[in-house]
Amino acid sequence: MTSPAADYVHSLLASYPDFPQAGILFRDLNPVFAHAKAFRSIVDELVGTHVGQFDAVAGIEARGFLLAAAVGYAADAAVLAVRKGGKLPGPVLTEEYDLEYGSARLELEVGQLPPDSRVLVLDDVLATGGTIAATSRLIERAGYQLTGVGVVLELTALQGRARLGAAPVHAIVAA
Ligand code: PRP
Repeated sequence: MTSPAADYVHSLLASYPDFPQAGILFRDLNPVFAHAKAFRSIVDELVGTHVGQFDAVAGIEARGFLLAAAVGYAADAAVLAVRKGGKLPGPVLTEEYDLEYGSARLELEVGQLPPDSRVLVLDDVLATGGTIAATSRLIERAGYQLTGVGVVLELTALQGRARLGAAPVHAIVAA
């Protein structure tokens, strides 16, 4: 099944072999975000899919921030920034995770939302799932409920979805 957003992604997505290192096929969604109607259709689909199910959105650095800001505004929801390690001041929660290439850590400031807030996690790509799995752990350790995950592109061959928990995962395009 397709959607207006999925059609835009299929037509505008750019792929770069061997970036940022040999053997990696980098999927660049910036051309999709740079097309006004495409970006609007993505935001509309993410809001519509998860409507009524979240009080806050958590965007994962970096391109998840773009989605979270727009979805948060459109849905009148709070916005959390899940940042790469070392960027946030004050008390933070930290999770280590493996990337398709290398490893890293993600952090979330504590005490941003009321306990049990319902959080929708947003990112551009679901690949191995390490990034969203780490974010999910941060959301739960912070005392919130993870009620959904939204991504623009899921790379199904990497089976990242299997690493995620029970919350519904919506991918605009699964390829
Ligand atoms: C990319 C992408 C996702 C993550 C997906 O981000 O934007 O956040 O990888 O990979 P995974 O499912 O295998 O964990 P990246 O870490 O390259 O950082 P960036 O957004 O700062 O470029």
